[in-house]
Amino acid sequence: MRRTVVGAAALVLALLVPAPPAAGTPPVERTSTTCSSIGPDSVQRDRVWAVAATRLLDLSSGARGTYPFGATGRGAYARTNSYAWTSGFYPASLWLMYERTGDGAWLARARAYTDGVLPVARWTGTHDLGFMVGLPARLGMRLDPSPERQERYSEAIITAATSLSTRWNRRVEAIKSGEYGGRWGLIIDSAMNAPMLMEAGAMTGGTAGRRLADRGLRHMLTLVRHFVRADGSTAHRLVFNARTGALIGPAYGQGLGSTSTWARGQAWAVNGFAQAYALSGDARLLDAARRTADYWLDHVPAGCVPAWDLDVTSDRAPRDSSAAAIAAEGLQVLARSEPDPARAARYSAAAAVSLAALTQPAWVPDGADERGVLLRQAYNIPADRREGTYVWGDAYLLLALSRG
Ligand code: GLY
Repeated sequence: MRRTVVGAAALVLALLVPAPPAAGTPPVERTSTTCSSIGPDSVQRDRVWAVAATRLLDLSSGARGTYPFGATGRGAYARTNSYAWTSGFYPASLWLMYERTGDGAWLARARAYTDGVLPVARWTGTHDLGFMVGLPARLGMRLDPSPERQERYSEAIITAATSLSTRWNRRVEAIKSGEYGGRWGLIIDSAMNAPMLMEAGAMTGGTAGRRLADRGLRHMLTLVRHFVRADGSTAHRLVFNARTGALIGPAYGQGLGSTSTWARGQAWAVNGFAQAYALSGDARLLDAARRTADYWLDHVPAGCVPAWDLDVTSDRAPRDSSAAAIAAEGLQVLARSEPDPARAARYSAAAAVSLAALTQPAWVPDGADERGVLLRQAYNIPADRREGTYVWGDAYLLLALSRG
């Protein structure tokens, strides 16, 4: 489907399509990252919410119909149209700001930016509708005081899930993520999008609802079968034979290599399996959520922010603070539904320690010249080794702070 890209088309395409590694880009030199072992106190929390209020307000002054994306280093803060995979994160942050303050000005902003992404629910050209539509619409359903608007948001979730369902392949038993090297592919990030089918299935009911929920569950179980390794780490991208459903093998993505553990991919897995278990109660998803969470906790020291790939051991390598925020929020989700109290306490404590680190000024500085909330995130390090600030890390940090 052809879509108009707002502003500089080339810039937006460059953001959406990972570029090949830049020859001669110097590695980022960083000193060792500090770890923190105490949960965030109310002073730390209040400071981060105050910083977020300033930055989110600044970002609301962009061109009409455009959505904040992020910035690398000291470069310009990029914006996209509503069809970028990231369009739902900024409205999600606006809803959380409204929840925190009860201020009608935040409600108006959250509504305006959410309204702009709702038409995307009909788009069958992406697998990312859980991020783009599901996340802000779910928050709107819970937080918007208008029953008519709540209804509109729930309809958008059902429409988005129905659009995703058109990408179903019955041989692979999954919703197509994309083409990798010209082959039918799945990506671990889809663990965050497929749970929306279970959610929409329960909202819809009847035969159509059962079909949506069944596809969501089976997609997640396909991820468990093929992406979760014996040690609980995860693959990033895999390609399949679309006619037979047979696994062909790994495809290279945003990690160190096709068999390494990309840090944000592992965080998406922890969060997605935790959500899917909470929605379905399926023991296989609880097992996957536990195994991926345990791998995370065994490889990311408490209170630390990981390198961009968990197979990278150098303290000087770029960090991915967004992975830490996504995993922290996932650990909270898992802790709330985990039937074993000892495990629940462990996951909850780990999330708190992670938030203690992320709420320090090293990650969320007060400086007036900063543009995003959470710094030192990684987007696609093989293409550009610079850390940046992006809307997804901001949204998951605020989600975790608002729950933990
Ligand atoms: N879904 C793309 C990413 O996490 O970078």
